[in-house]
Amino acid sequence: MFGRVKSLDAILATAEKKSLHRSLGAFQLTMLGIGAVIGTGIFVLTAEAAQKAGPGMMISFVIAGLVCAVAALCYAEMASMVPVSGSAYTYSYAVMGELVAWMVGWALILEYAVAAGAVSVGWSGYMIGYVEHLLGTDVSDAWTLGPFDGGKINLPAMIIALVVTMLLVRGTKESATVNAILVLVKIVALTAFIVLAIPVMNMEQFHPFAPLGFGGISAAAASIFFAYVGFDAVSTAAEETRNPQRNMPIGLIGSLGICTVFYLLVAAGVIGTVGAQPVGLSGGEALEPGSRELAAACSEIGSQAVVCSKEALAWTLREIGWPQIGNLVGLAAILALPSVILMMMFGQTRIFFVMSRDGLLPALFSKVHPRFHTPHIITIITGVAVALFSGFFPVGQLANISNSGTLFAFAAVAFAVMVIRRTDPTRHRPFRTPLVYLTAPIAILGCVYLFISLDIKSIQLFLGWAVIGLVVYFLYSRSRSHVGRGIVDVHEDDEGIPPQPVPPLPGAPTPGGEQA
Ligand code: ALA
Repeated sequence: MFGRVKSLDAILATAEKKSLHRSLGAFQLTMLGIGAVIGTGIFVLTAEAAQKAGPGMMISFVIAGLVCAVAALCYAEMASMVPVSGSAYTYSYAVMGELVAWMVGWALILEYAVAAGAVSVGWSGYMIGYVEHLLGTDVSDAWTLGPFDGGKINLPAMIIALVVTMLLVRGTKESATVNAILVLVKIVALTAFIVLAIPVMNMEQFHPFAPLGFGGISAAAASIFFAYVGFDAVSTAAEETRNPQRNMPIGLIGSLGICTVFYLLVAAGVIGTVGAQPVGLSGGEALEPGSRELAAACSEIGSQAVVCSKEALAWTLREIGWPQIGNLVGLAAILALPSVILMMMFGQTRIFFVMSRDGLLPALFSKVHPRFHTPHIITIITGVAVALFSGFFPVGQLANISNSGTLFAFAAVAFAVMVIRRTDPTRHRPFRTPLVYLTAPIAILGCVYLFISLDIKSIQLFLGWAVIGLVVYFLYSRSRSHVGRGIVDVHEDDEGIPPQPVPPLPGAPTPGGEQA
């Protein structure tokens, strides 16, 4: 069962044929990371973190950032060594065999598709807030919030998910310029927030610092982990990086470090101005974010708390007397979040595509559209699923479920990197994880700690999902696996699919050799 390992040489034959130019430097990698990372996590989930940890959420941001940093260093070694599509799934196939790879791929479905749903819900919150302030009227909650948030269905979230699906079916990729502009928009928005909020902080708002103790801080860390997800985009660009041993860690740690600093300053700005105490605290328990109880408690206080807001940063700015800037920060989120949805959905279709090409999922999934050259069938299936998640589930729940899958995949990669140091020590590694036997175990422990700090529903859902995955594997995939049937696939070209789930960067040559 564990012996069904996909030959690394066969996997690499694909990559070598592609031979991307090594053109990315540390700065471009850092920009790439920031572009993929900043999104719903900071713009929306800050409110949920406050409900779980109070001002102590500042520590949650640090913990989640540290776990990501060590996981990123492990990811980078695998990515530089096996620079092909499928990321954690492919690495696991080569190192730990088919069953583990299948489970990782199965978990990545949670990571990418559910994350796309979470970001869609986050986008909807900002969109509705913006429209309400522009028109000066209230839009009905029934059609703009899911059933757990006090509405019926979140239509704007479903619409944005379907629009992004359409773009992906048509083969839209973010251009280098668009990516650079969106990074700038996000940075300017967060900077404006910090500049306006920090000077008017009132330090008394930081007390009590941890109303729900360290348990609350851990729970918030497990949720806010979502705010850092996406840096794997940097690792997967390993093959295109100049001097990866130097530039890869700078890109990874640089983008994570910059995001962490921004996140801490933004969190401090929220806490110090409007306060971040949980709502409905009774007997040492806070009401769960995204629950009907919290929605009811919020409506009792006229939603006059940041934890009640679906657009935490815009709301805070309006409260401290900057309504127009608040609207502009909202507009920044409205413009920038769709690109995060696009990257997540793209990542999802790519994982499905590779799993299908390996025979583990139906061949239909890797069918490519004759005109658009995109895997349209699986893109549409993914898009409809994402739209349904976003229409009915609260953002925090979706983020937590996504985190459960991501944490599993990160832990698997950290494990794989140690195994392959033993089993294949001489293979060329453009990037080596520093102090791997320390870094990788810390990454695994960090992932386990955050995983068990997730809410019980997300853990149960993850376990249920894993069981379904095992059933599908043994009933369907195992007997159809190309590796199991002795078929060695070497794909000279990933028809119609760009080699990495990342947008091209300014000056980066495309696989075809032209300048992107
Ligand atoms: N890190 C990304 C976000 O916060 C997924 O939206």
